[in-house]
Amino acid sequence: MSVRPILIAPDPRLKLISEPVAEVDDHIRALIADMIETMYDADGIGLAAIQVGEAKRIIVLDVEQKEGGRNPRVFINPVITWNSEATEVMEEGCLSVPEIWDEVERPRAIKAQYLDSHGVPQSLDAEGILAVCLQHEMDHLNGVLFVDHLSKLKRSMALKKLAKAKKLKKAG
Ligand code: NI
Repeated sequence: MSVRPILIAPDPRLKLISEPVAEVDDHIRALIADMIETMYDADGIGLAAIQVGEAKRIIVLDVEQKEGGRNPRVFINPVITWNSEATEVMEEGCLSVPEIWDEVERPRAIKAQYLDSHGVPQSLDAEGILAVCLQHEMDHLNGVLFVDHLSKLKRSMALKKLAKAKKLKKAG
């Protein structure tokens, strides 16, 4: 297992549509192990494969880690099969858009189908932070960042702030 570098916006690879995984083999499981290690190393609660440069439909999540213990969840080829009419506004951030947090409105509950790390079909009913995080990561599989949900003005302010932070990092 190894920690991989995380792509930072506006890296064009973050706009790619990720490809479905054809077979869940040892190569895929090695990638998943790296993704989990990378997510914890970066203090994230979710990571999509494209964020480490692999355009594959794989997500890792752990929204419970702050309550102690690690319980990583793996979603391969996830599909949202239902979402509630009711929405919820939550503040989101992203490891590929560091230093920026903003409010995004999404369906508050979802149902999803996916393959687990053994390639076995699974389904999940999620609400609250798990639903938000899964929708955020699924956006990554389709080349969408959470800032793309913001108004034009808010998005350009966020990206300017990010560019400035990057410059400071280079200078420092
Ligand atoms: Ni993200």
